[in-house]
Amino acid sequence: MVSSSITECNIQQMKLRIGDPELKVFTYSNIDSTNEECKRILQKGTHKCLVIADTQSNGRGRAGKSFFSPYGGLYFSIAFPTVDAESVLTCRVGVETVEAIQEACGIRCGIKWVNDLFYKGKKVCGILAEQYNNNTIVGIGINLMPVSIPTELSNIIGFLDFPDIRDQLVENITARILHSSRNRLEIIECYRRYSMIIGKQIICHQGDNSFSALAVGINEFGALEILGPNGRETLSFGEVSIKTNQDNY
Ligand code: BTN
Repeated sequence: MVSSSITECNIQQMKLRIGDPELKVFTYSNIDSTNEECKRILQKGTHKCLVIADTQSNGRGRAGKSFFSPYGGLYFSIAFPTVDAESVLTCRVGVETVEAIQEACGIRCGIKWVNDLFYKGKKVCGILAEQYNNNTIVGIGINLMPVSIPTELSNIIGFLDFPDIRDQLVENITARILHSSRNRLEIIECYRRYSMIIGKQIICHQGDNSFSALAVGINEFGALEILGPNGRETLSFGEVSIKTNQDNY
């Protein structure tokens, strides 16, 4: 079903502002997952697309988790033909999204490695980047407006609480990702600056294994450097959570 909130005229203006005539834009009031819809569209021969939805019935997060996607949020995916040769795409998307939110709302979110954006101690944005054939699909979910959420998520999920920035954010983030000109080291430098975990006590989760550590840095490829039970280590996959009672974004 086509989205009620974005008109055909908006789409044309959006494409102009994003500045990519090849980009095809699709909007839905509901879809299972904008990342999955990108895959279906790519299969039909489109090379570059932006899929935006008001809600998702099967929103996907990293590590097979689901992503709660009610009305009031912004859910979109950008698919483009590239493979992540620099292996810093995840950091790039995090950095560009932090800066786009700052431009639109005047607030600075923090990045929790790998790529969750936090504001006032709660997660306001999740990012799922996938390789699909020779394409990259970047899916971004932003909790824009406060909505009622399941009790078990109420300590975890936060909201930006800015009502009128939906189109601006989609355009700005998409343009930044498609036309990003900063090199790997410039992106990593920003990523370190926006990181909310460096210097914090964290719990690292890798598969079934969890352990406490101190987050000491982000290396030049976006991996997390920790001081853990086995001394200094570099983690290139997994999830972390921040131990409570420390200052947060
Ligand atoms: C995470 O928090 O683990 C990543 C969440 C990514 C959610 C976005 S919403 C748009 C796109 N479609 C999906 O199904 N997932 C991503």
